[in-house]
Order: sequence, then structure tokens, then C-alpha cells
Amino acid sequence: PSKPAPNKPERNFVKIMQQQGRRCIMFYGSQTGTAEDYASRLAKECTQKYGISAMAADVELYDLSYMDTLPEDYVVFFIMATYGEGEPTDNAVDFWDLLTNETPQFSTMNNEEKPLEKVHYVVFGLGNKTYEHYNSVGRTVDKHMQQLGAQRIGERGEGDDDASLEEDFLAWQETMWPAFCKALGVDENSASSGPRQATFGVEELTDFDEALVYHGEIAERAKNARSKIVYDAKRPYNAPITTRELFQDGGDRHCLHVDIDISGTNLNYLTGDHIAVWPTNNEVEVDRLASLLGLSKKLESVVVVKAVDPAASKQHPFPTPTTYQAIFRHYIDICGVPSRQALMSLVEYAPTEDSKAILLKLASDKDEYRLAVSDAVRNLGEVLEYVLGDTDANGSFASVPFDLVVESVSRLQPRYYSISSSAKESPSLVAATAVTLEYNPVATPERTVYGVNTNYLWQIHSKVHQVDDGRSYPLYNLDGPRGALLTTDGSHVNIPVHVRRSTFKLPRNGNVPVIMVGPGTGVAPFRGFVRERALLKKEGKPVGPTILFFGCRHSQKDFLYADEWPELFDTLGEGSQMITAFSRETDQKVYVQHRLQEQGQLMWELLQQGGYIYVCGDAKLMAKDVQHTFTSFAQTYGGKNEEDANVFIKQLRTSGRYQEDVWS
Ligand code: 2AM
Repeated sequence: PSKPAPNKPERNFVKIMQQQGRRCIMFYGSQTGTAEDYASRLAKECTQKYGISAMAADVELYDLSYMDTLPEDYVVFFIMATYGEGEPTDNAVDFWDLLTNETPQFSTMNNEEKPLEKVHYVVFGLGNKTYEHYNSVGRTVDKHMQQLGAQRIGERGEGDDDASLEEDFLAWQETMWPAFCKALGVDENSASSGPRQATFGVEELTDFDEALVYHGEIAERAKNARSKIVYDAKRPYNAPITTRELFQDGGDRHCLHVDIDISGTNLNYLTGDHIAVWPTNNEVEVDRLASLLGLSKKLESVVVVKAVDPAASKQHPFPTPTTYQAIFRHYIDICGVPSRQALMSLVEYAPTEDSKAILLKLASDKDEYRLAVSDAVRNLGEVLEYVLGDTDANGSFASVPFDLVVESVSRLQPRYYSISSSAKESPSLVAATAVTLEYNPVATPERTVYGVNTNYLWQIHSKVHQVDDGRSYPLYNLDGPRGALLTTDGSHVNIPVHVRRSTFKLPRNGNVPVIMVGPGTGVAPFRGFVRERALLKKEGKPVGPTILFFGCRHSQKDFLYADEWPELFDTLGEGSQMITAFSRETDQKVYVQHRLQEQGQLMWELLQQGGYIYVCGDAKLMAKDVQHTFTSFAQTYGGKNEEDANVFIKQLRTSGRYQEDVWS
């Protein structure tokens, strides 16, 4: 006898919309949660302001091939982020494959020329101008939808994360909604601006089973204790980690090598992939916000947070029941810069006329906001303190409903690191390389901003290894159920991780020459690459020239993995070498691109032999300069004019021979 089929969730989104009486669906392709936030905000606005029931939806959870059955008065929104080399986010890959297929297969296939003729859609893309393929996912979705006959409402929106993503999003809505109302026959002027309707309900529990309370777990417990657990972005694995210090450069900057043990799980990785680490917020920020909201004495109270708005994309924004403390520490991004819209929603709760006026100004005036909030990198608690001035902050914003906090502060997102080990050499021990981040914003040089996750990792390291470097940075809670999950013997800790695939990959054929440029922690993936090629060589396989350009401040201070390179390059042998640029040892700065410039002839020869170029690190300045340098080689040694040289580099990129793993 066959087992009954498991209850599969419905994947036909049109059916779901019809069952739930919704006319709009806001699909999001999201990697870091911003597109998801935007989709939820649009769904809420659509429902509440324009009276058209809408829902936000993870594009991965539905079968988009039903698009061709969408009734004519329905609208589908695409809020799509682009990442890496113009790729869709992980959750949008299936949709991308469907849409970009030469002959997309839709459910009815009765009008093959223009199967989406009756479909109305709206598109907003999230990208970053620092990258080569700015907003290519939003643009491609738009193009293919048009080709398939669908009709776009309003202009395609594009947001630039390098400059003003939020402002671009707000500005785009100013023309999108009127177009939307016109298309749907809604009277825009009758749009209601009634009282705020809550998305979430928050209930404090007095009677609860402590065993069921979540203290920072990222995913809900598996319902069936015996089912095999699959770890992924939605269910990270609490991996044991060990750390060692790579350098301490005299000041407050430390660099850690972190080994993450994924053995015994379904997780695996390929050399060049990324490891996602789920951070924890520090106690200074937890206390700051809790105190402003009048929750200091209630941090350990147990609450249930549940969607009350049927349009919410998730039943629970994070696992509940939980505590206010766990929410502040582990679930919401209290160290991030709040959006203008989030500040606007708090204006009515400001305690005094003065603070109300200042908050309103920050929320409504782009320039004021930029100066005092975004350029100053103030988090929500710091903004609220700023608007209060010298008054006692404690409890000042206690009238803010907690559900509004949950709604307007984004979920805390994982931080991604380029894996610095070779999967061939160490398949179940993933290495990451991280420098503690702290800086003084130019707008407010008297304040120091601390990187959330790197300082968390540093504190784990200093606790396990009992180092006291006298460094002053905000401390984290490392005890307690999640804390850093210290093991009883204190020898190591567990942190939640998952693996993200990347396209940053060595050529399949080891014989192919490889040129790598990675200053600072940009060298991380190249440690993996070099170790992998050295291993091949040791196994007696042919390995082509392997050249690594590395840059740091001082040869004796922040030279990453200095003790490992000599042996690796000895193994690789003739034709392979490491070329260093130390920027602060001479009067004039020496950067990797200067060293590269000196090797023009050789670089050109390696490219003639089919060589691959890899660049990792700062997207804005370094990666651009390096690209210019390679372009100049095509002119100097290849005899090309400027235009042809640019085409040459472009072709290298398209054929996968010029790869970047860069961040801004
Ligand atoms: P600097 O801090 O002395 O200016 C790793 O961070 C190395 O990259 C450091 O030596 C740093 O030098 C250098 N660096 C800074 N800006 C750079 C740029 N635009 N291009 C290349 N390297 C850069």
C-alpha cells in the first residue's frame, strides 16, 4: 500500500489569490531582505491606502508558470534585487529560468506568441551602480515580460544601493501609484489615510512553557523530531567554530581566521563560495533601544508576535514565543540605519513638541536625513536620542507600539564572507577571514561605528582565548541559551551559518594560467584558490602559472597568511609567484594596481594563453582601477584602441575569464 501523499503547499499563486480575494501580488527576489521589505511595504500600501487587497510573496514559493491564467484586472509586482555578476538572488533562480528560457512554458500554452498578453505588471529593481551589471535582473525581467506580451504599469523603477536606494524607491512610487490607480480604475484622491493598521500583533504571555520559548534560534523547531534536517538560508546550522588571530596591527584592528565545522550536515561548499554568518547585536544597542522604548525592565518578558494583517508575507516575522531581549539581540537589525519611512511612522509618538518637530524634519527632509541619519550612520536608537537632545531618554518613546517596531525595523540579516579554504583540501572545514570593522563617519567624526558581526566574532575569540587587549568596543552577551552558544568546556562556540553558492570559480582545467588580485581581506578566496592549485600540483597534475597580487599596509603588520605563502608558491614552482604591494612603507602609496602595471607584458602573455583574471575586495576604487589597468594592457601590448580594449575586457567577462568577488 502506498503512503498518503504529504500535504504539499499550493504553488499556483493565482489560485491562492483567488481563494484569498487578492488582486495584487508583490513577488520579491531578495538576498539581504531589502526587496522583501519593499514588497511588504507595497502590499500594505496597496491594501490600506488604495483598498485593493494585496499580498507579498517569496517568488521561490510559487509556480510562476501560472502567470498566463492571471485575470486581466489583477496585477503582479516584481521587486527584484540583482547581485554579484548580474545574477538573480537565490530565491529567484527558478523564476529567472522560466522567464529567460527561449520558449518559456506557461501553464496553458494556448497563445504561444504572447502568452502573457493579459498580464499587468509592475517592476522595481534593486541594484548597485558600483557593479558592472547594474540592476540587470529588474531590467531583464522587464524585457522578457514585454516580449511575452505583458503590459507594464508605470515606469520600471530602479534603486541604487550605492547612493540612495530608499530615496529611489520613494521617488518611483510617486509616479507608479497614480499609474496603478489609473490602470485599475481606482480614484486616487479617495485613497484613505486612515489610522495605522497593524501588520503584527504582539501579545505578552504570563503562562507559557519555557521549553518552547525561542532565544535567538533563526528557524522554528522542526515539527517532526525525526525528520532529517536540511540546513540552508532559511534554516542555518549552528556550527562549531574555532578562531585564531592573524594579526593585530598595533591599533584596534584585528584580523581573525575562523574555521567553521560543517561535518555531519548536508552542507557542503565549492572553493570560491560564500559563507553566511548570522550575527548578534551588542548589548549597548540592545539597552539603548530597550530603554528608549521603556522596555528595560521587561526584556525577559515572553511575547508572541504574529501577523494580524492577512497580507503579511509571513505568519511570524521570527520564531515566537520569544523575549524582547532575543528580538533585540538576534532578530531585528537595531544597528542598521532606519529608513525615512520608519522615522515618519514614529513622529506621532515623540514625547515633546521639539522632538516631534526634529523627527518630522529628519523623516521628511532628504538632506537633513542624509546629514544626521544616513551619512552619520545613526541607528534607530541613536536617531531617537538625537531628536531628544539633552532630555532624559529613558522611556521617552515608551508609547510606540511594539508591533510598529517589529514592522519598521528590518530583520537582522546574515553577513557573507568569501570562503578562504579549498573545498578539495578541506571539504568540511570552512574558513573565513575577517577584520574587525570600526570607523568614524565623516559626518560625525566624534562617533565610532562598530561592525556588528566582526566585533561579535572578535569577542568570541577573546573570550575563548582569554585575550584582553584593552580594546573598547560595545560588548555582546555570550552567555545564555543562544548567546554565542558557548560549549560547556568553553573550548569553542557555535554560530549559525549557511553556504551561498557563487560563480567565482577556478577554471576547470588546472593548466590554464590564473591571475588573482586581492588586497586586504580580498585575498580570502585566493587562499582557497592557491591552496587548491598547490594540492593539484602535489598530486602530480599539471598546473599553469598562478600569480597572486596582494596588498596591505605593512609587510610586518597586516600581511595576511604570510607564513603560508612561501611553501605554497614553492610547490607551484616556476611561473607562479606572489607579488606584494605595501602601501604604508614608502612615501608614496603602492597599491596592487601599480604592481600589476609593472607586469604588463607578462599579464598580456598569460591572457594570450587563455588566462583567467580574478579580482576580490573593494568594488568602488580598487576593482575599477584594476580593470583600467588590464584595459590599458590591451592597448599597450595588444595594439587595440580604447574602444576595442573595452570590448576585449567585456568579452573576457562574458566568457567567465574576468571574474569579480567585490563588495562596497
Ligand atoms: P591604504 O589603506 O594604505 O591606503 C588593503 O586594505 C590594502 O589596500 C591597503 O594597503 C590599502 O592601502 C590598499 N588600498 C586602499 N585603497 C586602495 C585602492 N583604491 N586601490 C588599491 N588598493 C587600495
